[in-house]
Amino acid sequence: MKAPVRVAVTGAAGQIGYALLFRIASGEMLGKDQPVILQLLEIPDERAQNALKGVIMELEDCAFPLLAGIEAHSDPMTAFKDTDYALLVGSRPRGPGMERAELLSINGAIFIGQGKALNAVASRDVKVLVVGNPANTNAYIAMKSAPDLNPNNFTAMLRLDHNRAASQIAAKTGKAVADIEKLTVWGNHSPSMYADYRFATINGESVKSMINDEAWNRDVFLPTVGKRGAAIIAARGLSSAASAANAAIDHMRDWALGTNGKWVTMGIPSDGSYGIPKDVMFGFPVTCENGEYKIVQGLEIDEFSRERINFTLAELEEERAGVAHLLG
Ligand code: NAI
Repeated sequence: MKAPVRVAVTGAAGQIGYALLFRIASGEMLGKDQPVILQLLEIPDERAQNALKGVIMELEDCAFPLLAGIEAHSDPMTAFKDTDYALLVGSRPRGPGMERAELLSINGAIFIGQGKALNAVASRDVKVLVVGNPANTNAYIAMKSAPDLNPNNFTAMLRLDHNRAASQIAAKTGKAVADIEKLTVWGNHSPSMYADYRFATINGESVKSMINDEAWNRDVFLPTVGKRGAAIIAARGLSSAASAANAAIDHMRDWALGTNGKWVTMGIPSDGSYGIPKDVMFGFPVTCENGEYKIVQGLEIDEFSRERINFTLAELEEERAGVAHLLG
């Protein structure tokens, strides 16, 4: 058996936490031969800490063979100690009447603190996934607040958008979701993202030619994927949690264990590829190998795609400008 690795999860008593922790502990994220120690962070508030205690009792009651330890924390400086993986799920949701600027600044404070704590105490190879919204900008803030860590260790979750796009394409073509390759989602985890199936194949056949319907792409597919989160809130009365947790598992598993050449979408700091300014936390098509991701290069960006990419980029640039004062 391998030595245990440390996995920190913030917002551990929330809805995504409840759908996530049991799967991490059962080995679905890092493999069925990889023991894990869970380091769970919640706000100091008594209700949250009590709820966390309850979740821990349930984790204990599963008697997961791979669960080598569980810790409850209220301070990121202890929660992130020596952690190898950090899933930053907890954030402050947008309240009624809250302006975007206010949302960005409240979350700015959270992710500056957590970035600094990771910088101070986490493993130097920590892999960080930010799920809490606004995910890309929160990840950017954490990255900028951790100058001693490799910026490439910070990522944002676009995988839910990717999986949503794959599911819509499978339904449209009547093919199996597992057979879809070379799909990607560019940009921000927000309705502005650009889900792009121009390069996608199913059993080697082009998805674009199979669908052959630009109006469907523009008027049905993109709005459906972009507004899926809102549709789930309208139907369920709560935001997507199980599918978000599932996407987080997919993202971390692929990053840690590799994709065997398969494309996946990750929000990562841009290296300047495709004209995206350096450091913008942007959804790109990547492949993963040996614990590292690599942007798929050489894709042609046609006029429609450039427009969509510029649109989602403009939103991210605006968010980045909105938090610049917090980062000094
Ligand atoms: P939730 O409200 O059920 O749980 C969030 C938990 O985080 C709460 O228990 C809260 O006490 C905790 N928390 C808040 N601030 C914290 C901090 N500074 N440190 C530690 N814990 C903290 O929310 P839910 O449904 O679990 O969603 C979590 C986040 O994930 C939200 O921001 C949501 O918008 C986002 N999300 C992102 C998706 C993506 O694709 N990137 C998809 C779905 C949700």
